[in-house]
Amino acid sequence: MAEAPLHVAIIMDGNGRWATRRLLPRVAGHKQGVDTLKRCVSACMERGIGVLTVFAFSSENWERPADEVSGLLDLLAGALSREVAELQANGVRLHFIGNRAALSAKVCQGFAQAEASTAHNARLVLNICFNYGGRWDIVQAAAKLAARGVPITEEALGAELSLAHVSPPDLLIRTGGEQRVSNFLLWQLAYSELYFCDTLWPDFDAAALDLALGSFSGRERRFGKTSAQISAQGSGDAPTQASRLAA
Ligand code: FPP
Repeated sequence: MAEAPLHVAIIMDGNGRWATRRLLPRVAGHKQGVDTLKRCVSACMERGIGVLTVFAFSSENWERPADEVSGLLDLLAGALSREVAELQANGVRLHFIGNRAALSAKVCQGFAQAEASTAHNARLVLNICFNYGGRWDIVQAAAKLAARGVPITEEALGAELSLAHVSPPDLLIRTGGEQRVSNFLLWQLAYSELYFCDTLWPDFDAAALDLALGSFSGRERRFGKTSAQISAQGSGDAPTQASRLAA
């Protein structure tokens, strides 16, 4: 069955409901969600996961009430100023993924500084998707190729996507009970194993992560092949997985 995942992606859903159930403003759930993310990063490192990609703010989240949007932007600014030094000390390499055109110069500068200061780390790659949408990513990649007159092939397009620096997610976790992809990593999820749980993101702990990893370990990853072919091959892992990360 499947080897431990190298790359885990998470849709951190359920912050709003977590807060509402406690009669708190929705942004209190997002605040708690940041703490959960910090614990999740540690748990991933302890389990030897090499890449964690999280959906922190989607292209569509701008449509939320203004106080929630500004609350999320404030949380981002606070996390950038408070957490980067610790992430750096713990060997985490940060990447911010998404359309920066709509973000303030200050936020963009924070992204650039965080990426530069953690660029030599290799213990865990943490991709934070902020103002990200899977459709946006495919379109921006295609537009780059078109501008250079490069023929659109899977390989050429894949190289221009914003997660080209890592192999595709082996496992996608979505918390909060919904069972959809919501415009996250549309290209990269082609062969990811999907795991949905009812736990609201602020309640997602190491034990919940282990349940997801346990479910993953029981999957047979066939990548379009037959079960017999996979058994003969000895492993269901994508051939390029480790090499893409090392590259
Ligand atoms: C979805 O829950 C969650 C989000 C839109 C934001 C996720 C953000 C975090 C966990 C904080 C991390 C952020 C930074 C800045 C690093 P929801 O609000 O849709 O919850 P609901 O479905 O219960 O309403």
